[in-house]
Amino acid sequence: MNATSSKLALSTLAWLSPVAALCLWASPAQAQSLITNGTFDADYAPWWGNASSTEEAPADYALAATDGQLCATMMAGGKNPWDVIVGYSGLALLPNQHYHIAFSVSADVNRTIKFKTGLGEAPYTDYFLKTIEVTTTPTLVDFTYLNLRNDATAQAQFQIGATAGKVCFDNIVIEPVAAPTVPPHVTPSANGHPLKDYSAIVKMGTAVDTPIFLSNAQHNAIVAGEFSMITPANSMKMNIIQPTQGVFDYTDTDALVAWAQQNNLEFRGHPLVWHTQAPGWLTSGTFTREEMIAIMYAHIDGLMGHYAGKFPYWDVVNEAIDQKDGQWTFRPTFWHERIGDDFIDLAFTHARTADPAAKLVYNDYNIEQKGNAKADRVFELIRDMKMRGIPIDAVGMQAHYFVEPNGNTASGVPNMQAISDNMARYNEIGIEVHITECDFRIGKPLDDTKTQLQNKFFADLLQVCIDAPNCSHFTVWGLSDVDSWVPNTFKDYDFAHIYDAALMPKPAYHALAGVFAKYNTDGTLIGATPPPAPPSGSSGGGDDSGGCSLAPRAMRTNAGLLAGLALLGLAASRRASRRTRS
Ligand code: XIL
Repeated sequence: MNATSSKLALSTLAWLSPVAALCLWASPAQAQSLITNGTFDADYAPWWGNASSTEEAPADYALAATDGQLCATMMAGGKNPWDVIVGYSGLALLPNQHYHIAFSVSADVNRTIKFKTGLGEAPYTDYFLKTIEVTTTPTLVDFTYLNLRNDATAQAQFQIGATAGKVCFDNIVIEPVAAPTVPPHVTPSANGHPLKDYSAIVKMGTAVDTPIFLSNAQHNAIVAGEFSMITPANSMKMNIIQPTQGVFDYTDTDALVAWAQQNNLEFRGHPLVWHTQAPGWLTSGTFTREEMIAIMYAHIDGLMGHYAGKFPYWDVVNEAIDQKDGQWTFRPTFWHERIGDDFIDLAFTHARTADPAAKLVYNDYNIEQKGNAKADRVFELIRDMKMRGIPIDAVGMQAHYFVEPNGNTASGVPNMQAISDNMARYNEIGIEVHITECDFRIGKPLDDTKTQLQNKFFADLLQVCIDAPNCSHFTVWGLSDVDSWVPNTFKDYDFAHIYDAALMPKPAYHALAGVFAKYNTDGTLIGATPPPAPPSGSSGGGDDSGGCSLAPRAMRTNAGLLAGLALLGLAASRRASRRTRS
């Protein structure tokens, strides 16, 4: 470390009491340089260490300033990365301020650590900003982070536990900076059309998570350049957005919504009623049926009210069906157990009143293929709701698929015909289909065969959606492998997305772009003869089906005419007719 002035600043701060240091940092002059530190020549204060040790997973460490670095030697690492932490307290982070964060890190053997910042006592403001692969060669980590909240006592933490060994840090900097320039987006697609150019056919969306949104302008440029919708991956989960009963924290979602609006992206509300990522006050509370209904309505009113008119689509109920005693039935969640079978009806009926213009979606996984027992059960659920007049507009098929580590595809690669058949039966009952969380995770190690399966999966599923008159949305669950939920959730899997960990488009991206490239952006097939105009006197735009089918209007009113068209022309007319629907 060579910055003498920083050295002085650090050595001064190191001798201050935490309270005095905090006051000093709170002053505007000092706020220019929260941590500009790296010498670690004589001491490592005010950095501290912590080990959370259990009998099953002991954690133990010693900190030292060694050769101008801050080194933690772990005699035992505990179970999780956060079981040994090297931290720094009292960062006064300002709202809507970007910070430059940089450090170098090495270890005695390769390992994975996490860096996070945020407010210690309120988990919903703790962001895992970085998962970092550490090697014996010092790696420079350097990024910009947008802090949303006024955080007078934030911490910076290196979470380094899980295995014994030594990890060393140097040149640590946290300083406020101007917002980074968003790089221009040049689509990588071969025909120069980003995926979003085909929204007349199928709207493309992606999930975005607050940490990467907050820290990576290049990611945001790609999302804005290629997609026309976003879904928040976590910021609307109930533990984040209603952490205390009746207290809503919209900070993260508001930031995403403002960004989406600036960039002309639509927003999907996700999710309103779900059993996972729920706050403790709800899961451990003892509430009567009436109280639970009131809580559910208050949550729906809170969110749909706050974003009224801004979100065209809402996942009202998420993942409510599961297997129990060999039967596919209502998942025994706190919603179902405390309210009863009608909690879904009540949620949708209430959601319709909360925002009458929004499309209301039931969202679930493993429900894509007709003939699959869960898919059939969910179809029955939705058909029954429709028949009873419960307001529901669409089914969200999550579409999380995979190839196993050993290359087995038996349970992870779907039958596209069965998906097509499923979409068709939803069409018959007037239900739209949204692909809501698509990804294809690859069991490690990655190889060409698995990559080919992934490419084919994305291309085939998009084609099935395009061909189904009622499938209008295709959302991927995260843009890239760098901010993926997959390795955290399925430890033997990774590489599930269409951009890689360096934010470069993968063959899977080109597989999707290749499917769209068969069409003009207005939805007609390239090279297809346009369908003839309907004969005068035909019913034209009138819906004379008498039913609720979403089959393209042209097909229903000119069936005889269309029957005579060549396949390409038929497809072209299907695409053209889709443009009349939103
Ligand atoms: C996932 C998020 O992507 C993760 O970051 C989080 O840790 C767990 O939840 N079905 C859903 C999504 O409906 O909300 C889930 O998102 C993935 C499965």
